[in-house]
Amino acid sequence: MEAKKVAAEKAADFIQDGMIVGLGTGSTAYWAIQRIGARVREGLKIKAIATSQASEELARELGIQQLPFAEIETIDLTIDGADEADPAFHLIKGGGGALLREKIVAAASKKLIIVVDESKVVDKLGRFPLPVEVVPFGHEMTLRKLEQLGCKPVLRTAEGKTFVTDNGNYIADCHFGRIDDPEQLHTVINLIPGTVDNGLFIQMADHIIVGYHDGSVREL
Ligand code: 5RP
Repeated sequence: MEAKKVAAEKAADFIQDGMIVGLGTGSTAYWAIQRIGARVREGLKIKAIATSQASEELARELGIQQLPFAEIETIDLTIDGADEADPAFHLIKGGGGALLREKIVAAASKKLIIVVDESKVVDKLGRFPLPVEVVPFGHEMTLRKLEQLGCKPVLRTAEGKTFVTDNGNYIADCHFGRIDDPEQLHTVINLIPGTVDNGLFIQMADHIIVGYHDGSVREL
C-alpha cells in the first residue's frame, strides 16, 4: 500500500491551478484522488473527469469539481494506475475493468502519468492476463476468435456473476504469456468484431512513476 501511495502522491503534486485533470481507477489511483481532494481543500482550483463510476463517486465525496466530457476539449493531465508497465512505456491496464474509459481519457490528455508499485514493472508484458472489453451480443464467438490468437480467454466474473463494465460490456481476461509485439497484438485484437477495446496502452504514458516498498519513488 505504501509503495502505491508514495507514487500516487508524487504524481498528484504535478497538478496546478486551472488544470482539467483525468482521474484514474484502482487502488493506486485512489491515493492520487485522495491527495487531489486534500489539495482542493487547501485551495487548489481544478476540474476533473473520472475514468469510472467508482472514481467519480470518490471524487464527489472529496469535493472535487467534475465536468461532463461534453464540456471538455482537452485534459491537461491524467493520473492512472496500470497492471504492468515495460521499459518501452507499453502498459497493460483494465484489471479494474475500466480500460475503455481510461483509454478514452488518456487519449484526450496532454500528459498521462502512470503510477505503479515496483511489482508492476516488467521486462516484457504478458504475465498479467490482458483484459479485453467485449460486447455481450455474441461474446461466446468473440472469445473463440480471441482464442485463435493464441490465448486462453476467461470471461470475468464478480460475486458469481458475469462482470459488467460501466459501459454495459463484458471483460475477457486473455492469458497470452509473454507478449513480444504489443503494438501488433493491440491491432489484431481490436479487429475482431465484438471487441470494444483491449487493455494494451501503446506508448501512451508520458511518465511512469514507480513507488518502492522502502518509501522511495523513481521514474521508469
Ligand atoms: C483499472 C486499471 C487499474 O489502473 C489497474 O488495474 C491497476 O490497479 P491497481 O492500482 O488497483 O493495482 O487499469 O481498469
